[in-house]
Amino acid sequence: MVATEELKAVLGRASCAPRALSPADMAFLLALESPEDESALFAAAYALKVGCCGKGVAVRGLVEAGNVCAKDCLYCGIRRSNRSVERYSLAADEIVAAAAEAKSLGYASLVIQSGEVEGDAHARFIEDILRRIAPLDLGVTLSLGEQTEDVYARWRAAGATRYLLRIETSNPALYARIHPADCSWERRLECLRALRRTGYQVGTGVMIGLPGQTLDDLAADIRFFGEMDVDMIGMGPYIPHPDTPLGKAAPAMADERRLALGLRMIAVARLHLHDVNIAAATALQALAADGRERGILAGANVLMPNVTDPKYRSRYRLYANKPCLNETAALCRGCLDRRLASIGEHLLYGRRGDSPHYHRRTEND
Ligand code: 5AD
Ligand code: FES
Repeated sequence: MVATEELKAVLGRASCAPRALSPADMAFLLALESPEDESALFAAAYALKVGCCGKGVAVRGLVEAGNVCAKDCLYCGIRRSNRSVERYSLAADEIVAAAAEAKSLGYASLVIQSGEVEGDAHARFIEDILRRIAPLDLGVTLSLGEQTEDVYARWRAAGATRYLLRIETSNPALYARIHPADCSWERRLECLRALRRTGYQVGTGVMIGLPGQTLDDLAADIRFFGEMDVDMIGMGPYIPHPDTPLGKAAPAMADERRLALGLRMIAVARLHLHDVNIAAATALQALAADGRERGILAGANVLMPNVTDPKYRSRYRLYANKPCLNETAALCRGCLDRRLASIGEHLLYGRRGDSPHYHRRTEND
């Protein structure tokens, strides 16, 4: 059986121009289940990825700088009240060494991620690191949570050019169900606006397959990305963590279904937004060994292999089944080369891989 006429019409319309999908179109695409329909969806999204971002996959070395976190999100393995986590914070020298390793592996971009920590000492610590790694001439993405606009501006001035802050869900009521009372959806939104004002390439994203989340919620998430005019998207399936209230309580949607939904979200986001960077999240790989390659074939164009010293990797466990716990950065690179070759793709060594959307929107400033 081939894709239906209705599907072909929606895919054709989406491929011609960005922002052409209505919420009903998105919900229709997210609900596709037959293998033929899914293949048609993924093929259209992959063709757009190649058309808007080119062949090849942008690569960022990921440094997990620490698992100390002030937040208590109900789904996250490093939430502050999880006493079974052995906490760590990399020393500045260790972060600088990881950045140098990324550079020597041919990665021209770096992501520094950690649990959420605020305050002047931490702001200065990150600022110093940014100044120390500046000579490496890497594209630097920060993923360090909610901060004041002043701190975002200081980090931007010290050399960071991109910032990732997931909204987690665009539905404030669902957000309130998966966070404690001291987390505010509005503050997160305000942080995204502050990042935009400060001149970053801004990325956001959501978790997919959360308990109680509907296809309409997910369609609204993609609309939210468009309305915020973001440059980058990092989203992935929700994966229950056994030491968290959400991981213990809710009966989880089957892994296969969450993976399929994660892939369809990538495809629909690509079809709606065209020229943004979309990461194939590591969480896809936690659900299937070839999850990230399938993410690329569904329209993603960014991968973020871990460059953290393996001795810390098992402590930065946001969800169960985290992959690459014992591999070195060099091993992961070889693994990714082989995996991408198997789908006719390759890593873009030596290229920063900035968001084409960012360049387009700033050209018009
Ligand atoms: N499953 C999937 N993703 C998770 N994150 C945190 N906990 C989980 C989980 N159990 C994601 C959040 C956060 C990012 C750093 O990791 O979206 O923003
Ligand atoms: Fe780390 Fe495959 S990417 S082992």
